[in-house]
Amino acid sequence: MSEQDEARPPRGGITRKQLLRTAIVAAPVPMLLGAGPVLGRADAQDAPLQPTPMCDDGDETHEQIEGPYFKPNSPLRTAIASGIPGTRLTLSGFVFGIACQPIANALLDFWQADDSGAYDNSGFRLRGHQFTDARGAYTLSTIVPGLYPGRTRHIHVKVQAPNRPVLTTQLYFPGEPRNNTDTLYDPALLMTVRTVSGGREATFDVVLDVPGQPPTTPPTTPPSTPPSTPGGTTWADGRTYATGDRVTYAGVMYRCLQGHTAQPGWEPPNVPALWQAA
Ligand SMILES: [Fe+2]
Repeated sequence: MSEQDEARPPRGGITRKQLLRTAIVAAPVPMLLGAGPVLGRADAQDAPLQPTPMCDDGDETHEQIEGPYFKPNSPLRTAIASGIPGTRLTLSGFVFGIACQPIANALLDFWQADDSGAYDNSGFRLRGHQFTDARGAYTLSTIVPGLYPGRTRHIHVKVQAPNRPVLTTQLYFPGEPRNNTDTLYDPALLMTVRTVSGGREATFDVVLDVPGQPPTTPPTTPPSTPPSTPGGTTWADGRTYATGDRVTYAGVMYRCLQGHTAQPGWEPPNVPALWQAA
């Protein structure tokens, strides 16, 4: 059986999920979790905060065929390429419903070819399933899959919200020559991929046809740019700071110890884990 046999025509690009990602990532964490800060998320592609969109415009993640190589009962694990040669790839993202609500405990079951384009059909190399966390987030540690005849580069995944139908699809890599000739290829299923030290990082957010209530809306206006002061800027709620950044607060200069997005309660004197007097 060929994966080409049941090609499905592309239905256009997804742009709204990028807004969803931005809203979730940029929202103050306690608003989403009722928990402490998540520090150090470095995502160069985060855009200024956008209004939380409605997700009722039919842009759920497209289905694709399963293909001949799926195997049930994959191991529960987020790292599926331990000890397997290849270019390291970290894929992360969120699973949302159509009201933009993050879906916790969604099942994601990944399978893919190895560096030479071969699937492990006798064992479970490069196969694994996992569940989204409370934010609807997932992370997969793997390798860049190799090419095999008739297909462009891709990763297979099944995604299922609790008590909902399974979505079977495939994720694609931008800039692949075979994207132009593979009839299964769907540009709406392109991951965002960048090269980093040690390999690649990719992101993809899944939108499932799951009704729900929109999440608590984060602030809808970008933070204003604070006035500059010599040697740094004035600390400001909503600003993203990187390790080493310098700010002033109440006339005192501080140096950032860990990358984070500032929010009320995290003023420099209050959080020695984040700021050190400079
Ligand atoms: Fe495949």
